[in-house]
Order: sequence, then C-alpha cells, then structure tokens
Amino acid sequence: MNDKNSQVSKECLIQAVDLHKTYGTRGDPLEVLKGASFEVQPGEIVGVVGASGVGKSTLLHMLGGLDRPNAGKVFFRGQDIFAQKNGFLETFRNRHVGFVFQSFNLLADFTAVENVMFPALIGKADKKLAREKAENLLAQVGLQDRLEHRPAELSGGETQRVALARGLVNDPELLLADEPTGNLDYRASDSLIDLLIQLNQKTGQTFVVVTHSQRVAAKMHKVYQMLDGKVARTKKEFII
Ligand SMILES: Nc1ncnc2c1ncn2[C@@H]1O[C@H](COP(=O)(O)OP(=O)(O)OP(=O)(O)O)[C@@H](O)[C@H]1O
Ligand SMILES: [Mg+2]
Repeated sequence: MNDKNSQVSKECLIQAVDLHKTYGTRGDPLEVLKGASFEVQPGEIVGVVGASGVGKSTLLHMLGGLDRPNAGKVFFRGQDIFAQKNGFLETFRNRHVGFVFQSFNLLADFTAVENVMFPALIGKADKKLAREKAENLLAQVGLQDRLEHRPAELSGGETQRVALARGLVNDPELLLADEPTGNLDYRASDSLIDLLIQLNQKTGQTFVVVTHSQRVAAKMHKVYQMLDGKVARTKKEFII
C-alpha cells in the first residue's frame, strides 16, 4: 500500500498501522515488531496470543501510548496518538485507556484500595467517590477483605486482581490487559474474564487481552496471533 494513511478507519477504536520496533541492547539490535497492523472495533473483546518473547507486551505498550514505535502509527478513533501536542498522551492514558501491566506495577507503600484509587485521583475525581469506586471494584474481583493489604501482603493472584481493578477504575473505553489471568487458578480466571464480559455487555467497553490460556482465548470475540513481528487473526481452535 502506498499511502499508509489511506488505511485509517474512524470506525476503529484503536488501530495500529505497520508498526516497527527495534530494541537496541548493547549495540545488538533486536527487531521485535516488523510491520504489525492490528485494529479493534468499539465494543469488541479481543485476545492476543503468541509465544513468549514474540512482542505482545511491546504491542500493547504502543497501543496504550506508553512507548513509541520506530515507524508506523497508532490511531485512537482515527486520531494519531503520537502526533498530538504535549500532554495528549497523559490525558489519553488517564481518560480513555486502562492498562493492566504484566508485572502489575503496584505501588509498594500503598494499600490495595489506595492503589486502585490512584488513577481516579490523578483524573481529579472526588476522593470519597474514588474510594467507593475502588472498594466496589475490589469486591467485584473478590478482594473485599484485602482492601488494606499492601502489595507485599497479597498473593500473586490477588495482586493481579488489584491491578485489574486499578485498570478499570476510570471506566476506560479501552482496557489493555497484559496476561491478566496469568497467576490465577481456572476458577478465578473464569470469574475475572466473566467480569470483563459483563462490563462489555453493560457499558460497551472494549478489551484487548493478551493471554497464554486457551481457555481465556476461547471466551474472546476474536483472537489475533503474533508471529514473527506481525499480527494476524486466527481461529480460536488453532491457537497453540
Ligand atoms: N526494553 C527492552 N530492551 C531490549 N529488549 C527488550 C525490551 N523489552 C522487550 N525486549 C525484548 O523484546 C522481545 C519482545 O518482548 P515482549 O515483552 O513484548 O514479549 P511478549 O510477547 O510479551 O513475551 P511474554 O509472553 O513472555 O510476556 C523479547 O525478546 C524481549 O527480550
Ligand atoms: Mg509479555
């Protein structure tokens, strides 16, 4: 395609076009994304699968404006997120996108409920309302009895569920979740994915879920596979 912008679709909620990303580690370049294109419509729940190290987290970071590609573009509702004025990305991330990091990234000195409240407070929400919302979300992920625990006082699966609650606290139009069930048993994993499905049906929120789980992928509307630096739609039954 000659004009890459001709592919831009305003109907997409998020669209990555021809992303390239090379990491340079001690003079040894590692090409991770090699023309990855990917799009998600509003209201979809999409799975992303692929081998460890293939670039799933790298792709998710670019979709959320957390890292920049070397080439290629990311559009949110048709707007090039890396070509806006200063401060755009911070607002984009706080107002429109929730992010569940693979490594959780909770603040160690703060309790579960405080961690969940943070994005709401950054968005200037009323403190009391933010706390109510955070407590409600923690209850929805089964952690109503762990509100005052700090991350070091939570199990791996509990930490993961706090990270999910934090990603949802600002009612993001788009939640980017990087292996949100990686540390959970199948029951907790099912209930967490069912929560996302319920939210999707109630509010129309859109979810991109990176997973290694066949069971999780089977519940998604569509599944994409990353292979050799590119992204392609795959049939659920062919997932490895
Ligand atoms: N900041 C970085 N600097 C150098 N190399 C990096 C950096 N981040 C990631 N990589 C490398 O890029 C590749 C893709 O990493 P990424 O985290 O996107 O993989 P992934 O598909 O999410 O894997 P996993 O399923 O294990 O989480 C890996 O080989 C990794 O070692
Ligand atoms: Mg990863």
